[in-house]
Amino acid sequence: MIAQPTIGVFALQGDVREHVRMLQGAGVTALPVRRPSELARVDALVLPGGESTTMYKLAGIFDLLEPLRKRLAGGMPSLGTCAGMIMLADRIESGIEGQETLGGLDVVVRRNAFGRQVDSFESDVDFVGFDAPFHALLIRAPWVEKVGEGVDVLATVASGPAVGRIVAVRQDSPIIVGATEGAGLVASGIPALLAYTRDMIPLENRQVAEIKPGRVRVLDFEGDEVNAETIHVEWDLDAAEKSGYEDFMLKEIFEQPEAVRNTMRGRVKKGRITLDEVTWSGADLAAISKVVVVACGTSYHSGMAAKHAIEHYTRIPVELDLASEFRYRDPVLDAHSLVIGVAQSGETADTLAAVRFAREMGAKVVAVTNVVGSSITRDADAVLFTHAGPEIGVAATKTFLAQLVALNLFALYLAQERGVMDPAKIGETIDAMRALPDQIEEVLTLQGEVHRAAKRYASARDFIFMGRGVGMAVALEGALKLKEISYIHAEGYAAGELKHGAIALIEEGVPVVAILTGVALYEKMLGNVSEVRARGAETILIAPRNDERACTLANELFEMPVTKPLLTPILDTIPLQLLAYFVAKERGLSPDKPRNLAKSVTVE
Ligand code: F6R
Repeated sequence: MIAQPTIGVFALQGDVREHVRMLQGAGVTALPVRRPSELARVDALVLPGGESTTMYKLAGIFDLLEPLRKRLAGGMPSLGTCAGMIMLADRIESGIEGQETLGGLDVVVRRNAFGRQVDSFESDVDFVGFDAPFHALLIRAPWVEKVGEGVDVLATVASGPAVGRIVAVRQDSPIIVGATEGAGLVASGIPALLAYTRDMIPLENRQVAEIKPGRVRVLDFEGDEVNAETIHVEWDLDAAEKSGYEDFMLKEIFEQPEAVRNTMRGRVKKGRITLDEVTWSGADLAAISKVVVVACGTSYHSGMAAKHAIEHYTRIPVELDLASEFRYRDPVLDAHSLVIGVAQSGETADTLAAVRFAREMGAKVVAVTNVVGSSITRDADAVLFTHAGPEIGVAATKTFLAQLVALNLFALYLAQERGVMDPAKIGETIDAMRALPDQIEEVLTLQGEVHRAAKRYASARDFIFMGRGVGMAVALEGALKLKEISYIHAEGYAAGELKHGAIALIEEGVPVVAILTGVALYEKMLGNVSEVRARGAETILIAPRNDERACTLANELFEMPVTKPLLTPILDTIPLQLLAYFVAKERGLSPDKPRNLAKSVTVE
């Protein structure tokens, strides 16, 4: 049994009560600690308050901990943080960068992908240890996640006489554990472990792992052993490195041809779409009377494009919901509803809550995700993996394209299984999808042109993006990408809506990006472009190749190869990803780690 410790909460400033309540809410016995004498009542200490470890050190927190250290036979605790995880051990000595001695064990802490330093990490909560013979306790929780984006942390326990164990606790935020012959491993994400093992266990919420070299034991909070599933990860290690690119985001944009190939791989056999992971019977699929797509952020935009595809191919009505809104609008769901939860990370709290809610309401749930073993895979009846490989950059790029491909495949699959689409038409669409990786390569050759445009508009104060139909999803995605990494105000709009208000924002020199490909309403779209030009806008057009009319209306023109109208977002988004990237670079910003954002949003 792992004894439930009593956790004390101590802060140099601010109110500790909220943190006490948070821990109590998580089923932990917690008390506020106001003076050193009160330490005797607790087994461990949490230090909240947005103050860095350095500050605690300066404030003599280690002296304060002395009584506790004495009281605990094992000699506890020292405190360290490492990029999003908090460590506590008998002793932590900072040594060579990336190496620490933890509780008498040799521990290698690999910094997160961005090389964040221990002491510069400002954490809201530093979590601390147990009165148990644990050499180290690592905990990840949402309030840590909030400030620790891109947290890939690895602790290995070396073999030898000092072999000990690490205990890791999952409280909402993902935590992945594994072991090799010589080491126990803990990380916040799969990529961090790839250099060491391909077999790993994603902990479920409120599970505790005891990790030793060669062995992982998973327990629940009652201390009972749990039969946890080990997953085997195929991701290529190179994919988690920058491989000569300046930033992960740029590398991931250029990996898109391969990502799309991998999403398609093995899913079309003899002209038929086979989705092995979707095991519903033909009768089950025939009984679906409506589809609801739920997602957040970029995934919501792929859902928006999917709505068009599913309705067009299958004639099943599709609702699209922001996952954060879905549960609260009292949606109508029953056993004939199919809910598609889209989340590249598979950990987005709102999307998880939405799919759980849908299942409780009796709906069928399919998850579209990039991460094997992620939480959403456990909450869905079926899972469609996007197989885009690890995405480290905070801004979603290749996972977005892979989602679009997976969702189009799924839409075609539904149409095929329900027998509502001419097989020849399905075949034509599949052929068009097969051509996409080469076409993406072609679009990527626009890099230089997009860079030039980015230089021209990098100091703009506002951007407007507009499109119609699936082009609207592209417009929203283009605006999101730009605002999240360049911090320029950008609005994505349905082009036809502009005249109902937003056109008032157009003045001399405002860049307006318009998506002209694949729209049935092409003429109307040209009209919208003319309207904004007449008011002084600079127009950046994503247009079909050799389109003379678009040419005359453009300040900047990016010409796209021809594909099926519903597949155009898979190509049209790319120049906008590049535009956002280069604008951010021109403004001296780091595209991989935009302020205030995290790769997995595990808080609602
Ligand atoms: C934008 C971005 C976010 C995510 C959103 C949902 O580039 O990455 O908007 O798309 O946080 O994340 P997932 O797909 O993991 O649910």
